[in-house]
Amino acid sequence: MGHITKLFEEANKDNINTLKINSAYRSYDLQNTLFNNKLAQQKKIYSDNKEAYNKASQVVAIPGTSEHQAGIALDLSTKSLNYTLVEDFSNTPEGNWLDDNCWKFGFVVRYPKSKTNITTIIYEPWHIRFIALPHSEIMFKNKLCLEEYIDFIKNTKLYSFKAFDNKDYKIFYYNRLDPNTHGIDIQKSKISDITKLNTDEFIITVSF
Ligand code: DAL
Ligand code: ZN
Repeated sequence: MGHITKLFEEANKDNINTLKINSAYRSYDLQNTLFNNKLAQQKKIYSDNKEAYNKASQVVAIPGTSEHQAGIALDLSTKSLNYTLVEDFSNTPEGNWLDDNCWKFGFVVRYPKSKTNITTIIYEPWHIRFIALPHSEIMFKNKLCLEEYIDFIKNTKLYSFKAFDNKDYKIFYYNRLDPNTHGIDIQKSKISDITKLNTDEFIITVSF
């Protein structure tokens, strides 16, 4: 079963049954249109074009950089807000439930209120991104946004974690140009996922 289907099923069991997907995959053209609309709106507020551009890019990701274009993000809203994407979503039972529970299905609220200086995106309680377990669990429990989590793994080099399902994971940073980065005997383990940060750097997750 799909991760988001499971999320909706579990939400229903908790009497959260008015959640709806407002936006999912977006093409480059659609992101471009959304961005240009936001930019035009900001230009009416800020006379300085650069400032208008900066403000717009804090709300709508610059075309080419949106998680929606990668198909890994979803925007959710609820009936009481007419399914609109507003900050008030965080004060609804549905927004609260999503914030507390989405990690169980591999998602994170990607742009938290307390991390806007790091993400450079406004607080978006409606935007969830698939990150996969156990990462979503670690991020949620340690209150880390994605940028902080990647830094944490890079600095820790090898992080061992017992997940809520009792599985043991090792998450490590691997740099193929640096022979001193942590190696691990993957023969005895199962690769859970490999995330390529760039051509040389990887985060590898194994379970036992
Ligand atoms: N609103 C988010 C940042 C996006 O456009 O992807
Ligand atoms: Zn979004």
